[in-house]
Amino acid sequence: MPIIPSQRARFDIPREVAYLNCAYMSPLSHEVMAALARGAAMKARPWALTIPDFYDMPDAARARFARLVNADAEGVALVPSASYGVETAARNVPLGKGRRIVLLADQFPSHVYPWRRRARETGAEVVTVSPPPGEAATEAVLAAIDERCAVAALPNVLWTTGALIDLAAVRRRCDEVGAALVLDLTQSAGAMVTDFAAIRPDFAAVAAYKWMMGPYATGFLYVAPERRDGEPLEEGWIGRKGSRNFAGLVAYTDEYEPGATRFDMGERANFALMPGLVAALDMLLGWGAADVEETLADRTRRLGAALGAMGLDVMKEAARGPHFLTAKLPAGAPEDLLARLAAQGVHLSVRGGSLRITPHLWCDGEDETRFLDALKAAL
Ligand SMILES: Cc1ncc(COP(=O)(O)O)c(C=O)c1O
Repeated sequence: MPIIPSQRARFDIPREVAYLNCAYMSPLSHEVMAALARGAAMKARPWALTIPDFYDMPDAARARFARLVNADAEGVALVPSASYGVETAARNVPLGKGRRIVLLADQFPSHVYPWRRRARETGAEVVTVSPPPGEAATEAVLAAIDERCAVAALPNVLWTTGALIDLAAVRRRCDEVGAALVLDLTQSAGAMVTDFAAIRPDFAAVAAYKWMMGPYATGFLYVAPERRDGEPLEEGWIGRKGSRNFAGLVAYTDEYEPGATRFDMGERANFALMPGLVAALDMLLGWGAADVEETLADRTRRLGAALGAMGLDVMKEAARGPHFLTAKLPAGAPEDLLARLAAQGVHLSVRGGSLRITPHLWCDGEDETRFLDALKAAL
C-alpha cells in the first residue's frame, strides 16, 4: 500500500514546530478552517437558513463517518463528546445483580465513570482487566468475558500505552456469552482501518477532535440495528417524526424518526461546526484509512527503532496500535521533560508513565530529526 507523502502544506504548522500529539488533539487543516468560517457565517444571516440546513449537513457527516467505519449511515447519531455517547450506551444496556461490566485497566475516564454509576444503580459489578505490561490486551480481555458478562466496554487502542485489542475476536467471544460490546474508538477511528461489519459493536462512540481531525465538541455514536429503539439522553424536537414541519411541532408525537437519529444531541444541526466536521471527514476519506494506517505505521516504526537504539523501553509494534508509539518514561527523566521538549518546538504527551508519540500526516523527516535531537538533549 502506498505511503502518503507529508500533508504539511494543508495545515498551519510553523517549520519550527514538530507536533507529535494527535492523541491529544489534531490541528485543523486549512480546508476545515475554511469550512468552519462558512459554517459560522450561516448564523450571521439567519433569514437565509432553510429547513434542509437543519438536516443535510448532519446527514452528510453521518454518511461520511459510516463510510469510514464500514457501517450504515442510518445507525450514526451525532454527539458532542465521547462521554455523551458512552452515557447513552450505558443507559441502554440491561444490567443487574450478578452481571458484569468488563473494562480495561487505565481506560479513559469518560468510558469508566458511566459504568461505575450504572453498577451502583443496578448492582452489577465492574471487572477491570489488567493485561501483561508491554503486551496486546486481547488475550486478557477474552479471558475475562464469561457468562456473567453483560457488557464489554472497551477501546481498540488504549490511550496511555497504545495497547491493541482485537475487537473482532472480542465480538465473537461476546456473541458466545450473549454480552454487549460498547466501544470508545476516539483513539483509533480515522487512524486505522476500523470495520464495523467485522466488529459489530452494539454502541461505538468517537470524539472527532483527535484522529478524525474535526472541531472540538463534535463526535459520533454508532448504534447497532437492534439497539435503535433505545432511550436517548434527551427528548428534543428534531428526532421526532415529522419534525421538518416546523409549523406543526406542537402536534406532539411519541414516534421518532427512523434509525439512530433519536440519539442525536440537542441542536445537532450545529451550523458553525458541522461543515468543518464534514470537511475533515472528506480529507480522511480522500487519503483512505488503509493508507493512513500504513503511513503512520511506517513513521512510528522508524521512530520506535530510533528510540530503542537510544535505550528506551518501547512498546513493541505487534502489541500496539499502528499509529500509537509509546515508550516507558526512563528512570531519571527530568520532571520538566515536556517543557524542555516544547522549548525546542517538540510537542507530545506523557500518559500513565509512558511517553506518547503520535505524529500524523502533517509530519515529515525534519520533525523526526527535531524530535530525536531534542529528546537526546533532554534525557
Ligand atoms: C480514549 C479517549 N476517549 C475519549 C476522550 C475524550 O472524551 P470526551 O469526548 O468525553 O471529552 C479522550 C481524550 O483524551 C480519549 O483519549
